[in-house]
Amino acid sequence: MSSSIEVAAIILAAGQGTRMQSTLPKVLHPVAGRSMLGHVLALSDAIAASRRVVVVGPDMPIVSEAARKQVPDARIAIQAKQLGTADAVKAAAAEMAGFTGDVLILYADTPLVQIETVQAMLSARRKGASAVVLGFRPADPSPYGRLLMSDTGGLHAIIESKDCTPEQSKITFCNSGVMAVDGAVLFSLLEEVGNTNAKGEFYLTDIIAIARKRGLTCAAIEADADEVLGVNSRVELSQAEVILQNRLRHMAMLNGATLLDPSTVYFSHDTKLGRDVVVGQNVVFGPGVTVADGAQIKPFSHLEGATVATAAEIGPYGRLRPGADIGKGARIGNFVEVKAARIEEGAKVSHLSYIGDARVGAGANVGAGTITCNYDGFEKHFTDIGAGAFIGSNTCLVAPVKIGDGAYTGSGSVITKDVSPDALALVRPQQVEKAGWAARFRARFAGKKSGHG
Ligand code: UD1
Ligand code: MG
Repeated sequence: MSSSIEVAAIILAAGQGTRMQSTLPKVLHPVAGRSMLGHVLALSDAIAASRRVVVVGPDMPIVSEAARKQVPDARIAIQAKQLGTADAVKAAAAEMAGFTGDVLILYADTPLVQIETVQAMLSARRKGASAVVLGFRPADPSPYGRLLMSDTGGLHAIIESKDCTPEQSKITFCNSGVMAVDGAVLFSLLEEVGNTNAKGEFYLTDIIAIARKRGLTCAAIEADADEVLGVNSRVELSQAEVILQNRLRHMAMLNGATLLDPSTVYFSHDTKLGRDVVVGQNVVFGPGVTVADGAQIKPFSHLEGATVATAAEIGPYGRLRPGADIGKGARIGNFVEVKAARIEEGAKVSHLSYIGDARVGAGANVGAGTITCNYDGFEKHFTDIGAGAFIGSNTCLVAPVKIGDGAYTGSGSVITKDVSPDALALVRPQQVEKAGWAARFRARFAGKKSGHG
């Protein structure tokens, strides 16, 4: 593929998406933790599109904002009325002025198209086809435009479902909607598109027959039906999620992670797992997680916005929230929640703890039930635990507070003042013992049946 030809992407997102039954515009619904529009914008990044135009409806500022947040130089075109897909592409004309490279037309509600497929379309384009359409063979072709192929394998025309003759209805090769078109002719082809058809819409698909009449060649490439799934309802949204999760699981394994039961591990689009990472059953990765080589994520753990260094162990039932930074060989055990805290190399927080807004120094041991009391109802405060410190079980660390290197806290202590390095801080009442008390107590009730507490 020659790299000298520029690529632009026109992303159609003007549809209302009424079947989603949502106040959120359809294309902002997430799949694997990223909006559908976000996936399509990421694809445009992957092909190094030098211009991105997102076509939105007139009342969709939140779609434009989302696009610009992800791609600051994204251009926004407003389609005043939804007169059809050709009209939608035409709405991008002003933003496309002066562009003569290859134009990729993408639907923002078709989020699973892969870079390799688009590259294959662009190389077919550069072999001489003025327009390359991405086709597929759905289980039920009835709602889709049919691809009329010539005997020599070229694409002759696309006939929309409602305009098909009974004979054309039998065609199983369908239009996914994704197209790569020569930017030098795209808008002049669109000028010729009319709306005398079953739906009274301006069909983008008509540009194929128009191009053929001009003697230009057109082609089709076939994709897997899963890859071009279009999302119109929450049912299809869930199907897209399943397809993408399977793809992410597959990639994680090919990259060297072991998933003990892949179908129970849920990824975010951006989850990064190193080699020899072992992920147990029923683990959920929210956005922004990086796990380094050789770390273990044991069953029923939930991670988001967290970094796990090499050879660290999380879970079972570990909970890493944003800003959790788990050092090399450190251990986060069952029912431990970590938020905005750095757990340094080899430190252990093994059972039933909350560590938030904190540092746990290298090699420190945090006993069962330890809580950093980081919040006073108004502000968050920091807890600093030194290297090699030993925090007794059920310690409350009332932040801001600092535990020196190598210091101990006694079990059950409520620590409100800083502790010097290598000291023991003990905050608990003296133990009182009353000899024989229990025996006397029982004797008082001799002969009576004990009630049910
Ligand atoms: C379109 C194709 C059909 C293809 C099918 C695949 C046309 C005429 N037909 O049909 O061949 O098989 O997709 O799903 O292109 N949109 C706008 N503005 C508009 C109309 C549509 O932005 O005025 C956007 C929609 O938001 C959507 C996409 O374009 O993302 C496709 O529109 P839709 O109405 O779903 O087209 P189909 O009738 O499904
Ligand atoms: Mg559709």
